Amino acid sequence: MASRVRSAVPFYNYCHCYYLLFLALSHLLAAQTDNYIIHMDLSSMPKAFSHHHSWYSATLTSLSKNVPETTKLIYSYTHVMNGFSASLTPSELEAIKASPGYVHSIRDLPVKIDTTHSTKFLGLNSAYGAWHDSNYGEGVIIGLVDTGVWPESESFNDDGMSEIPSRWRGECEIGKEFNSSLCNKKLIGARFFNKGLLAKYPNTTIGINSTRDTEGHGTHTSSTAAGNFVDGASYFGYASGTARGVAPRAHVAMYKALWEEGSYTSDIIAAIDQAIDDGVDVLSLSFGLDGVPLYEDPVAVATFAALEKGVFVSTSAGNEGPFYGSLHNGIPWVLTVAAGTIDRDFNGVLNLGNGVSISGASLYPGNLTDARVPIVFMDMCKDNKKLKQVGRKIVVCQDKNDSLSSQYGNLENAKVFGGVFITNDTDLELFVQSSYPAIFLSPEYGEVIKDYIKADEEAKASMEFGKTVLGTRPAPKVTSYTSRGPSPSCPEILKPDILAPGSLILAAWPPNSSAAYVDGRQLYSKFNILSGTSMACPHLAGVAALIRGARPEWGPAAIRSALITSSDLYDNSLGHIKDIGFDNQLATPLAMGSGHVNPNKALDPGLIYDVDIQDYVNVLCALNYTQKHIKVITKSAGSLSDCSKPSLDLNYPSFIAFFNANDSKLSDVKTVKEFQRTVTNVGEEKSTYVGTITGMEGLEVSVVPKKLEFEGRNEKKVFKLRIEGPRRMKERVVFGYLSWVDNEKKHVVRSPIVATSLDSTAVL
Ligand SMILES: *[C@@H]1O[C@H](CO)[C@@H](O)[C@H](O)[C@H]1NC(C)=O
Ligand SMILES: *[C@@H]1O[C@H](CO)[C@@H](O)[C@H](O)[C@H]1NC(C)=O
Ligand SMILES: *[C@@H]1O[C@H](CO)[C@@H](O)[C@H](O)[C@H]1NC(C)=O
Ligand SMILES: *[C@@H]1O[C@H](CO)[C@@H](O)[C@H](O)[C@H]1NC(C)=O
Ligand SMILES: *[C@@H]1O[C@H](CO)[C@@H](O)[C@H](O)[C@H]1NC(C)=O
Ligand SMILES: *[C@@H]1O[C@H](CO)[C@@H](O)[C@H](O)[C@H]1NC(C)=O
Ligand SMILES: *[C@@H]1O[C@H](CO)[C@@H](O)[C@H](O)[C@H]1NC(C)=O
Ligand SMILES: *[C@@H]1O[C@H](CO)[C@@H](O)[C@H](O)[C@H]1NC(C)=O
Ligand SMILES: *[C@@H]1O[C@H](CO)[C@@H](O)[C@H](O)[C@H]1NC(C)=O
Repeated sequence: MASRVRSAVPFYNYCHCYYLLFLALSHLLAAQTDNYIIHMDLSSMPKAFSHHHSWYSATLTSLSKNVPETTKLIYSYTHVMNGFSASLTPSELEAIKASPGYVHSIRDLPVKIDTTHSTKFLGLNSAYGAWHDSNYGEGVIIGLVDTGVWPESESFNDDGMSEIPSRWRGECEIGKEFNSSLCNKKLIGARFFNKGLLAKYPNTTIGINSTRDTEGHGTHTSSTAAGNFVDGASYFGYASGTARGVAPRAHVAMYKALWEEGSYTSDIIAAIDQAIDDGVDVLSLSFGLDGVPLYEDPVAVATFAALEKGVFVSTSAGNEGPFYGSLHNGIPWVLTVAAGTIDRDFNGVLNLGNGVSISGASLYPGNLTDARVPIVFMDMCKDNKKLKQVGRKIVVCQDKNDSLSSQYGNLENAKVFGGVFITNDTDLELFVQSSYPAIFLSPEYGEVIKDYIKADEEAKASMEFGKTVLGTRPAPKVTSYTSRGPSPSCPEILKPDILAPGSLILAAWPPNSSAAYVDGRQLYSKFNILSGTSMACPHLAGVAALIRGARPEWGPAAIRSALITSSDLYDNSLGHIKDIGFDNQLATPLAMGSGHVNPNKALDPGLIYDVDIQDYVNVLCALNYTQKHIKVITKSAGSLSDCSKPSLDLNYPSFIAFFNANDSKLSDVKTVKEFQRTVTNVGEEKSTYVGTITGMEGLEVSVVPKKLEFEGRNEKKVFKLRIEGPRRMKERVVFGYLSWVDNEKKHVVRSPIVATSLDSTAVL
């Protein structure tokens, strides 16, 4: 099953570095003050104040005669929440709690962050479908909260771009090595947010105090979503071709809130607040916070406001897989994206002296001559003394015990000529960008190499690199690292929602951030290949921009429904998509959601599962949140939120039922879980859909009515799905699908169904 525990190798999930850094600092500081995010009830604002900003300031001023309010206030928020963030001592926090209009406060927390060819893999083409119908996303604005942007990257050139929409209120903020002349019709906004970080650590030196990206992550994600066409892109010869984002004619606005020096929720909330105010259509958020309830999750709180303004939000599921319940951003009102592979491999070739050549995974960026050198087999490559005596040879290692990471390090230290690793490891993304010549092979090829070395006392081999192979099968596969549902903060909504390309994605990179490390030297490149759900998320932001461009009348829930119900269940070998993290068994919806995104089909989903704001409030009520906690999310001033119809049965295009009762004595007693859904016809006026259930072995699943007859567009029909099962299932996860198929078989509106014995009671 879950094959191995994640190693703490750096990955595109910045959590490890940030956490370590800030743990260390907080030990040193023993700070008296801390940052807090304070939610206020606007209906309590005294009439004397003309604006909420002055009310918040006055609240802070009243705390202390000596300290000016300006040193305490970090941000005053407008859209995403009613309230502000401030740097407070414990006693000041208590005073605020006693002041009129106070609702709730949370401590500011650090967060995790989590070509070119992938557009073709998604079926995007100029002749028909999503690129054609939206003119490549023309006129749509994608905002990203990330590490900034490298504005001079060719991916942000504005050739062929339409004018900046007149509704745009954003700007290109002046900062270190950044000014408005760096923005254009492609990059239309650039702002940065670090007041929260600086309030927390006043002595932090901000290297580049501007939206300029010094890390690369934001340049990569933003160009993945909406980079312009760039010919001749490659990563040291790998993945060469024309780079382009998913929506190459959409505009980009960057909100930098993730810093090398640290990333704080107060800054992130400010960034989302500003993005909404500026007028973005789509938000892409490749980071998340683990282990917090929705009302303490800045992404959940801030994106509820985005939803109210019709902004579509794409988020990353996290890189903590393959363990169940490891997902973040499991928020009912956003899209949560899992990471898959694409049909492209990067290879090195080992040419044995006997004429046999074997390809294996590699992204080694260096140059090699075709010189033959001796090749030796050193089994588990554990003996560092022996390894140090090897010298200019190719060393073959066999990974028997999850030891790839240490083997890789041992060979690096021993400074051998090259390494060949025979391994079952499924997270090769972590190793392939090697700092010395290295090739990773699956065990079936290992025997050929070992036999040759055994047979020839003077065995020799050469290594070649830089090979890109397209059309590999099967693809996509679910990656091992992508985080799995159920969502800890709201288990009753099936998450993740959908699978998108995440592994080994080529996109733009700052030319002076390191893109590789070889033989003790940093190497630089205008494009880099990265892996993670951080890369999958902007793919969906781009696709959502295309849908928004082609179907401007659809709201966020309609777009999400179209994406989910039209996704692909089959890989390019026509088999059900497999899961690398679970020995290539069929991927369950807890790993990939409904399936792999299909942008062209999403334009014409047939039926839509739509959601009202109140439906989300009903979920919050059913989670047994207090009125205060609900208000933190909804900001409903004054009046209580309507909790007259609490329900976790959201009108979502997927289903999850928990059969995990602990009273095992009653194990033969059956229980029934029922769901009610409303579908809206957005296809042909007159159409009849028939519901079929597939999968769900061992459970009785039915849908009533079985047939939905529509007479017109936008007509709604209600149906019920019923799952009968034991009080506690023996299996951990059983899954299947409900498909509504129209009479012409033009539309297949498919929803995933999960029945599980996993725990749902650990709700945050
Ligand atoms: C903006 O910065 C660029 C590059 O640093 C510089 O060439 C240009 O003169 C600056 N423009 C303005 C208006 O300051
Ligand atoms: C920040 O730097 C100043 C001056 O160097 C020093 O006095 C102060 O203690 C530092 N503060 C913290 C929180 O480290
Ligand atoms: C960063 O730039 C902003 C805006 O120009 C300025 O207000 C702020 O003081 C600067 N911060 C630092 C740490 O230099
Ligand atoms: C490989 O060769 C190219 C072309 O000569 C050169 O630009 C590049 O720096 C070399 N790479 C390494 C890792 O030495
Ligand atoms: C790889 O996995 C197979 C099947 O689980 C196992 O038989 C084999 O010993 C493993 N090989 C290595 C090198 O770990
Ligand atoms: C595999 O690892 C375990 C635990 O680290 C160790 O006890 C065992 O000896 C190792 N097996 C081999 C073959 O090295
Ligand atoms: C990268 O480029 C910027 C702007 O030209 C410069 O300020 C910075 O020092 C460079 N960083 C590195 C690591 O070379
Ligand atoms: C909420 O409280 C009700 C009544 O106590 C309980 O039945 C239900 O299981 C709770 N829901 C959650 C999600 O904890
Ligand atoms: C079942 O019992 C275990 C152990 O006591 C507990 O951790 C878990 O929350 C219970 N699950 C349910 C659904 O009650």
